[in-house]
Amino acid sequence: MIELRELVRSDIEALPRIYSTRAVKHLPRPPMDATEASHYVRSAMAAATLLPRTLYVLGLALDGDLIGVVKLHCDRPVAAISYILRSDAWGRGHATEGVRQILTLAFDHLGLPEVRAKHHPDNPASGRVLLKAGFTPTGERAGLMT
Ligand SMILES: CC(C)(COP(=O)(O)OP(=O)(O)OC[C@H]1O[C@@H](n2cnc3c(N)ncnc32)[C@H](O)[C@@H]1OP(=O)(O)O)[C@@H](O)C(=O)NCCC(=O)NCCS
Repeated sequence: MIELRELVRSDIEALPRIYSTRAVKHLPRPPMDATEASHYVRSAMAAATLLPRTLYVLGLALDGDLIGVVKLHCDRPVAAISYILRSDAWGRGHATEGVRQILTLAFDHLGLPEVRAKHHPDNPASGRVLLKAGFTPTGERAGLMT
C-alpha cells in the first residue's frame, strides 16, 4: 500500500537515499547528508504544528518503506507542489500516486483554488507525472516548464 504521511524522527536515515546524487540532478540543491536529514525532519515536524499551516512535507511510504517526499507549499499567492523519489522506486507510478494524493489534500481538504508545479526541461519523467496527475502545461518560465 502506498500512503502519504507526516515525517517522523525515524525517517532521518531514509532521506539521504531519497535525495541522492542521481535524484537531485535536475534540482537546485546538492545531495542530502545525514546532518541535513536531521534538520530536514525536525523542520518538517515543526512546520506541521504551525497554524495556519503553510507547508506540508510528507513522506511517501510503500508498505511502510519511505521511498519519497511530496511537498505542498501554501506560503505563496498560488500553492505549489514538488516531489522526489528514491531512484530504485522510479518507473512504477509511485510519484504519480503521491502527487494525486497531495492534490486531494490541496483541493478537497484545504479547498485551494489552484496548485502549480514546475520541472526542468531535461526531466521529462517529471513532466509526465504532472500530466498524468491532471496538470495542464502552461509554458516555460525562467528555464523551467510550468
Ligand atoms: C520524476 C520522478 C518523480 C518520477 O517518479 P516515478 O515514480 O518514476 O514516476 P511515475 O512512475 O509515476 O511516472 C513516470 C512517467 O514518466 C515516464 N518517463 C520516464 N522516463 C522518461 C523519459 N526519459 N522521457 C519521457 N517520459 C519518461 C514513464 O514512462 C512514466 O510515464 P507512463 O506511466 O506514461 O509510462 C522521479 O524520477 C524522481 O524523483 N526524480 C528526481 C527528482 C525530481 O526530478 N523531482 C521532480 C522535480 S520537478
